[in-house]
Amino acid sequence: MEVFQMSNFCLQPRGDTYTRRSTFDSILAGCIPVFFDTRTAYDQYIWHLPKNYSKYSVFIPKNAILNGTEDQIEKILSGISRDQVLAMRGEVISLIPKVIYANPSSRLETLEDAFDFAIKGVLERVEAIRKDIKENKTLEMGFHAVTVIGLPLFLLLNLVLAHAEIPTTLEGPFKPVTVPLDNNFRGLATDLPDTDPRVQRKVTGFEPEQISVSLSTNHDSVWISWITGEFQIGNNIEPLNPETVRSVVYYGKLKSGLTHKAKGDSLIYNQLYPFEGLQNYTSGIIHHVRLTGLKPNTVYYYQCGDPSIPAMSNVSYFKTMPVSGPRNYPKRIAVVGDLGLTYNTTSTISHLMRNHPNLVLLVGDVTYANLYLTNGTGSDCYSCSFPQTPIHETYQPRWDYWARFMQPLVSKVPIMVIEGNHDIEQQAGNLTFASYSSRFAFPSEESESSSTLYYSFNAGGIHFIMLGGYIAYNKSADQYKWLERDLAKVDRKVTPWLVATWHPPWYSSYKAHYREAECMKVAMEELLYKYGVDMVFNGHVHAYERSNRVYNYTLDPCGLVYITVGDGGNREKMAIPHADEPGNCPDPSTTPDGYMGGFCAYNFTSGPAAGKFCWDRQPDYSAYRETSFGHGILEVKNETHALWSWHRNQGMYNMAGDQIYIVRQPDRCPVGPKILKEVPNMDCFAR
Ligand SMILES: [Fe+2]
Repeated sequence: MEVFQMSNFCLQPRGDTYTRRSTFDSILAGCIPVFFDTRTAYDQYIWHLPKNYSKYSVFIPKNAILNGTEDQIEKILSGISRDQVLAMRGEVISLIPKVIYANPSSRLETLEDAFDFAIKGVLERVEAIRKDIKENKTLEMGFHAVTVIGLPLFLLLNLVLAHAEIPTTLEGPFKPVTVPLDNNFRGLATDLPDTDPRVQRKVTGFEPEQISVSLSTNHDSVWISWITGEFQIGNNIEPLNPETVRSVVYYGKLKSGLTHKAKGDSLIYNQLYPFEGLQNYTSGIIHHVRLTGLKPNTVYYYQCGDPSIPAMSNVSYFKTMPVSGPRNYPKRIAVVGDLGLTYNTTSTISHLMRNHPNLVLLVGDVTYANLYLTNGTGSDCYSCSFPQTPIHETYQPRWDYWARFMQPLVSKVPIMVIEGNHDIEQQAGNLTFASYSSRFAFPSEESESSSTLYYSFNAGGIHFIMLGGYIAYNKSADQYKWLERDLAKVDRKVTPWLVATWHPPWYSSYKAHYREAECMKVAMEELLYKYGVDMVFNGHVHAYERSNRVYNYTLDPCGLVYITVGDGGNREKMAIPHADEPGNCPDPSTTPDGYMGGFCAYNFTSGPAAGKFCWDRQPDYSAYRETSFGHGILEVKNETHALWSWHRNQGMYNMAGDQIYIVRQPDRCPVGPKILKEVPNMDCFAR
């Protein structure tokens, strides 16, 4: 069984009886059975197991082996993608509660087989863990269970735990939990190559591709974006004229009746490097069309393109957000960060899609095109591999690949993006964020922001504030003034929930980027706290972490909950070391980010880490941290309760690695501007 548990595929022997027993063991171990002969348990699927056998087993006709080469089996099995293997193992594991190995004539109610014993053990362990959770002890014991009872049964345990009581922030602050690194996870992420069919251009001429939907400020309006024509990269590029292709969307509530028409604008952008030997890029024509007058919570069908060519897309659809109000919320909002376009990204997105979100938030670092030179040579670490380049280069086609890969999701589910450091992409003339700002539609104008780098919008009873970590944020900056105005306008009777997102986290305990955004924290934290922002989503640190309610490094029942989800799957390294581990505390002078500028991270002045730059144990503000790829799902239930679930890629899509009800207490924590004691002005220089 131990060998089975460590294997993805378990080859099944010939013969009816042997195979049947072996198949049972294989399923119990979460291993995908592989059959070679139909005169085995294979024929008995229809008796005992679901008919969709290709979802949880592999059949290789024995004649194919006899006539082939010796390594035929290995070739066939290694041709099955990791995502498929993961999905199949998930199916196998889901069969565990349904299978029992016994003689049909035996009196099963008196028979305790291995499965009964295992379940009994699992239930005893569940009870012990529930007891520990109630007593607020560490969850680590549950994770040791993996080695004791094996992965499939541990997943089953998770399933049972899922029905256990979910903790709420009212029971906090929680004792900090660090989940040990799971060696089953794939830490190495490899980019999808340009030969992958999912990133290749499938349209011809000026037919639309890279189609996406994003929200405007309210339920009654959305943006449809797409690209027509081909990008060019090289030394002699000739930008397309955006006026040559129209921007039209036909839409309506019936697939057969797209009776409404909206027109929009088009643009191109260039990524230019005035250095010998570097290649320049000019984009296809990017179209953005805003649809208005939409009904709430309604499915609309649409087709985009230029009808005069004619070059129109296939019909797709999206659903509008509910009307803003204290009882109306989108069911599920997916939150991801630092995606990139690797085989881990594909795993994250496939898990995310199976959770059927109504909206996707991407908290910065979109494509990681800036890990490539303009000639298409990439590296997991740009500065290590290309230290001598005259400017930090990018390979812009990665943006086109990313948008093609994402189209099946984001042409139906609105995506809202905020910028990360990998999206800066400096080019000739000190121009930055050209690709980010051109490719996505942002409700900047609608939310009275003067920049694509910060804006706000409503999704039902939630007001989202998207902030820019890589544009000036000090009190004298436009962004700060806009934020003050935006917060003052929020009516918490209409949008009780206030959620902020930006890329670099303020409350992270990993060594990577530790206290890097401290100047932004110093500038803005008080304002967000005063207005009672409920929670914050960040990326940047390639791991997962959830904070206790905290303000100014102090546990505070009215403080914000900070969640870092920089674990989308990009090709850079995962964040594993913690700043509180011996020898891992960075030198303060090395912590500021070059682009953000400034230095504000001084030693703590109070609390258990007073006088130090790092804690010597997991900080009290950190409630839960784990290094794993994954995504989060936010389900706001009503004006006081929101369920947050974080899903690891190596688990089933619907199993939560971390789960908590974030509970608002408007009576205890006023939502208007709070009167705070005067604090010394710690404002400092930043761009
Ligand atoms: Fe980042």
